[in-house]
Amino acid sequence: MNAFIKVLSLGFLILCCNLTIKAEPIKTISSSEKRIKIINLYELEKEAAEKLSIGALGYVKGGSEDEITLRDNTESFNRKNIIPNGLTGLNEVALKTKLFGIDLASPIILAPMAAHGLVHQEADKDTIKGTRKAGTIMSISTYSSVPIEKIAESAPNAPFFFQLYMSKDNNFNEYIIKKAKEAGAKAIILTVDSGVPGNREADIRNNYEYSVKTPNVTEFYAGKTVTQSEARAMRKLGFSAEDISYIKKISGLPVIVKGIESPEAAKIAIDARADGIWVSNHGGRQLDGAPSTFNMLPHIAKVVQKRVPIIFDSGVRRGSHVFKALANGADIVAIGRPALYGLALGGADGVYSVFQHLNKELETVMILAGTENVEAVKNNHLFDPNKP
Ligand code: LAC
Repeated sequence: MNAFIKVLSLGFLILCCNLTIKAEPIKTISSSEKRIKIINLYELEKEAAEKLSIGALGYVKGGSEDEITLRDNTESFNRKNIIPNGLTGLNEVALKTKLFGIDLASPIILAPMAAHGLVHQEADKDTIKGTRKAGTIMSISTYSSVPIEKIAESAPNAPFFFQLYMSKDNNFNEYIIKKAKEAGAKAIILTVDSGVPGNREADIRNNYEYSVKTPNVTEFYAGKTVTQSEARAMRKLGFSAEDISYIKKISGLPVIVKGIESPEAAKIAIDARADGIWVSNHGGRQLDGAPSTFNMLPHIAKVVQKRVPIIFDSGVRRGSHVFKALANGADIVAIGRPALYGLALGGADGVYSVFQHLNKELETVMILAGTENVEAVKNNHLFDPNKP
């Protein structure tokens, strides 16, 4: 009899577990506003995952196809070492630096992303409050969930860049650049790696349709609601030096070309008088099988020859990764997904906590490596165990 009851309760338990796994709990979008305790950015992702619907998590976390590039982005950092150096007489370290004359608390800024409204009610408005508090730059996406000027108004004097998904329609390009400039954008980030979105299987599996509206695009089309899929169909497929010159001309702002993954592309951008090179493979969301940005960085830096700043992203999850990117040729490092996880868990203060955490990790690495400031990190030689 006892055995029968045991089997029955086990059956019930299995049934309950299956039910909870299959039926996704209805998740209300976060309105949390608090600092968060962060052990590391990998655990942060797990914690944030609990808060997001399966569709939203797939969209934010996922990469394209086999996610080889997504994984390699982070794993590549592990193939080079930072040599400890305690014999430098170091008394303190300074993380502060500048980009286009903007003072930054550290060399870490925010990469442009579309999904803020998917993870928090206050969306980009909270993100910019978080970046301002962290003393860094916010990048506002063409597909921001809140209109550009409303984001800027929510954090007066917060420095921000505007990321452009260039449309086939120049009327739109001129309209949105003017809007970004009037709102106070300090530079334009021209993304050139996303003529079409990468083949993201999580979104297909989850029947995921990005549900947050894209107000910047919608407003241009006189209030006709434009979804992200419709907006994507308007994008230019390929880019040329003329596009860079054109965006420079109509904006009168520094233009950073984002999505550079080869020395050849860097050369085209520099010849077209780009003001910055943003080395990125879109966090492994575009061309799967593309090289990790960390591996390509020194080749690109060799061509750039310090003529313009190099901003670097894709796969950065540790202060040591920031250090290695700087030592490998970057001037500034950007983070993406971790900031959205911070936003989901704690709003503006959550975003702030993520930057503080990464700055703290970076500071520890700088002390242990005997590098007193960002310039010293850039001059540091990493050890390559494969070429001892
Ligand atoms: C993405 C685009 C919107 O990666 O940047 O989803």
